[in-house]
Amino acid sequence: MTAPYILVLFYSRNGATAEMARQIARGVEMTGMEARLRTVPAVSTDCEAVAPSIPEAGALYATLDDLKNCAGLALGSPTRFGNMAAPLKYFLDGTSNLWLTGALVGKPASVFTSTASLHGGQETTLLSMLLPLLHHGMLISGLPYSEAALIETRGGGTPYGASHHAGADGKRALDEHETTLCRSLGQRLAKTALLLDPPKG
Ligand SMILES: Cc1cc2nc3c(=O)[nH]c(=O)nc-3n(C[C@H](O)[C@H](O)[C@H](O)COP(=O)(O)O)c2cc1C
Repeated sequence: MTAPYILVLFYSRNGATAEMARQIARGVEMTGMEARLRTVPAVSTDCEAVAPSIPEAGALYATLDDLKNCAGLALGSPTRFGNMAAPLKYFLDGTSNLWLTGALVGKPASVFTSTASLHGGQETTLLSMLLPLLHHGMLISGLPYSEAALIETRGGGTPYGASHHAGADGKRALDEHETTLCRSLGQRLAKTALLLDPPKG
C-alpha cells in the first residue's frame, strides 16, 4: 500500500506546461502530500516510431496504475488549436478499463494549460480537458475568485484551472500570479483529496 499521492499528469514539448506542473506539485507538497509528476510520450505519424521506455529527461511516463491509484489528478497540456495536445488525448483514450471499473469515480481533478497567445484558447482547452474527467466521474476542482491572483493577473489564470501565457517564442516565464495560482491549485487538490479520503488509523 503506497501513501496517497496526487498525480500531476502532463504533456509538454517546450517546457512551459512542465514548469506549471512543477509549481502545482510544490503546492501539493506544501500540504504534506506526495506529488507524482508523470508525462506521456509524443505521438508520431510514423507507425514504426517507438519511444524509449524512459524519457531522456524530465518526468517518467505515466502508467495506467499511476492514474488508477492516485488520490487526485492534475492534468496539464499545452493548448493546440484551442484543444489539448494529441499525446495526452491518446493516453486518455487508453483509459477505457479504468472507466469500465469506475476506478476514478469520486476522485478530485484539476486542469492546467499554457498558450502562446493570451487569448488563444486557454479556457476552451481547459474545458475540453474536463470532459473526459467528467466521464470518468471525477470531482472537478477549479480556482475560486477568493484567490486574489485571479483578479489581479495580467497573464494567465482562469476559474476553470491554472493557465500560463508563454508568449510567441514560448519563453515568457511563469509570472508571480500564474505561479501563485498553480501552487494554490495543487494545494486545493491535495486538501480536497484528504477530505474525501482521510488517512486511516
Ligand atoms: C500545433 C500547435 C498548435 C498550437 N495552438 C495554439 C493555440 O491554439 N493557441 C495558442 O495560444 N497557442 C497555441 N500553440 C502554442 C502552444 O500552446 C504554446 O507554445 C505552449 O506554451 C507550449 O507549451 P509547452 O512549452 O509546454 O510545450 C500551439 C502550438 C502548436 C505546436
